[in-house]
Parts: sequence; structure tokens; C-alpha cells
Amino acid sequence: VSDYLQAHARAIDEAAARIAPHIRRTPTLTTDLDPDLLLKPECFQVTGSFKPRGAFNAILSLAARDPAPRGLITASSGNHAQAVAIAARTAGLPAVVLIPEGANPAKVAATRAFGAEVITAGISFENRDQRLAEEVAARGLALVHPYDDWDVIHGQGTAARELLEDRPDLTAIATPIGGGGLLSGTALAAKAQNEEIQVIGVEPANADDAYRSLQMKERQRLPRAPDTIADGVRTLSIGQRNFEVLVANRTIEAIVTVTEAEIEEALSTAWLRLKLALEPTGALPLAAYLAGKLPKPQKAARGRGPVALILTGGNFDPAGVARLLASHG
Ligand SMILES: Cc1ncc(COP(=O)(O)O)c(C=O)c1O
Repeated sequence: VSDYLQAHARAIDEAAARIAPHIRRTPTLTTDLDPDLLLKPECFQVTGSFKPRGAFNAILSLAARDPAPRGLITASSGNHAQAVAIAARTAGLPAVVLIPEGANPAKVAATRAFGAEVITAGISFENRDQRLAEEVAARGLALVHPYDDWDVIHGQGTAARELLEDRPDLTAIATPIGGGGLLSGTALAAKAQNEEIQVIGVEPANADDAYRSLQMKERQRLPRAPDTIADGVRTLSIGQRNFEVLVANRTIEAIVTVTEAEIEEALSTAWLRLKLALEPTGALPLAAYLAGKLPKPQKAARGRGPVALILTGGNFDPAGVARLLASHG
């Protein structure tokens, strides 16, 4: 195993220790779908998504600095927003969050309930990086980037670390990919343990910038926010550090894309058969599995062993899920 992987794996170990008092160790589930399929339901994580893993790691590290920052700022479609809000409150620091207009209202309300100042007016996926830079400069706050940040990446890697503690015989792990924080952490944790484990990212076909970035070996950017029910992965491109981990260091086997119909099918399977209240983004790896786009569990890699899916969140919009289940039931 390379020094690169070893150094990152150590940082993931440190992250796991740092965040342990504040997050839940989610279980590794089996289901009736397939005895060799394992699910990591991060919908049961604090705030309903995996995001507090990275946010707590970043914010506890920042708060321990001397001098500590005056406050924190981030931009997010909603799940990282809630995670930053709760971690900032825990660290005793104020937080400001820019959420694009039109975001899932449940996520906006939850972020405010955790005590963060939320700005949505005039924020879009296209201008949010620019607006974030302006606010950072104007207010002197410390940025907690949703994915292009090593502390966030190492925190997100703790989910795969737990999976591997539970099942060291894993042969493949699939996660959604938006900006790439989770997939980067997952790939670093998995490959440091066993380079044969296949690591696969799943994104909507309508938001295939990561897929194209891997093919072209150069970061690709979507011209505008993609039209997808997976509202957690509408980011326009993966981050620089994420590109370094995933593409330049080639720590993943593939990015696969799924159609909107495949995401809907997965969401309905999750709710109706698996009894898991996922949001569409959280069901992306299940969509790829059900569509036959992931390695088959028994045949994966060289040996035999299970395939794990990180089902990343459950912060759904109730009206949207109700409509979808009514038409799929
Ligand atoms: C539920 C859910 N899954 C996956 C992701 C993607 O995470 P990343 O940006 O680290 O790729 C997000 C990001 O917001 C999310 O909210």
C-alpha cells in the first residue's frame, strides 16, 4: 500500500476517534434482496445523512486551532448545511449557510432549526461559489467546504471504515457522487485496507460530470444545475482534491450513471421492500445495483464476498415521495 493511502488512512482513523462522541455508528444491514448485499443506512445518521461525519471532523479541527475562527460558513443543497449547523452549535461557533433557491424546504427548515443563519435569496448552483467567496471575504468566517476539503473527506471516509470493520471480506463498495467528498473518503479507506476492493461512484445520467471527468482525465463541469430528483448531487463539478484522489490517483474502478426512472424504482424498492425511508440521492447506489450496473456480489473482484451500498440520506421532500410511491405502488 502506498504512502499516499497510508497517510490518508491514518487521517481517517483520527477522524473516527474525533467524531465518535457526536455521530452514530450506523449498522451494516442485510435484506431479503440478496444475501451477499450489505447496506449502510446513513439515513439513520445524526441529522438524517452521512454529512456530520465530515462536518464534525472539519469543525472540531478548526475549533481546536489557536486562534479559533470567529464563525463558520458553507454552501450546500441542504444535508451538509444541517451537518455544519449542528457541528457549529456543538463547537459553540456561529454558522452561516448559503442554500440555493428552490432547495428542498425540509432541509432549509432543519438547518435553521439547528441555529444556523441561512441565506437563500439570489443563491443558485451557478453563482454559489462566487457568493461564498464574497461572504468569506466580507465576514471573516472559516469555510467548511462541502467536499473539497481534506478534513471533510477524511470524516466521510469513516462510513467505509465502519463497513470494513464489520465485514473485512467486502469485495466492492458503491456510493453516490456529487462533489466527491464521500467517494474520495470511501476510496481512501477501502484501498488502504485492500487494493482489490472495487470502489464505484453512482450519479444521475443527467448529472454525469464525474463520469465524464474520469473518462477524459480532466475535470468536467456541467453548464447548469442538472434536472434530477437526486437533489443532493446537483453540484456542477467534483472538487480539486476529489479529482486528485479519484482520477489522478485512480482509487476507483468506475463511475456509473443511472436514469431518473432507475432512481425512482430504487426509491420505491427502498421504501416498500426494504422499509428504508431514503431520499432520492441516498438511493443512487441501490438504483445502480437494481439496474445490474454494479459487480454481482458473488462474482465481484477475484474472490467471493459481499458488495456494500452506502445509502447516504433520508431527508426527503414528503410531497415528492408521496407522489412517487402512489405512482409506483
Ligand atoms: C444524501 C446525499 N448523498 C450523497 C451526497 C454527495 O456527497 P458528495 O458531495 O460528497 O459527493 C450528498 C451531498 O449533498 C447528499 O446529500
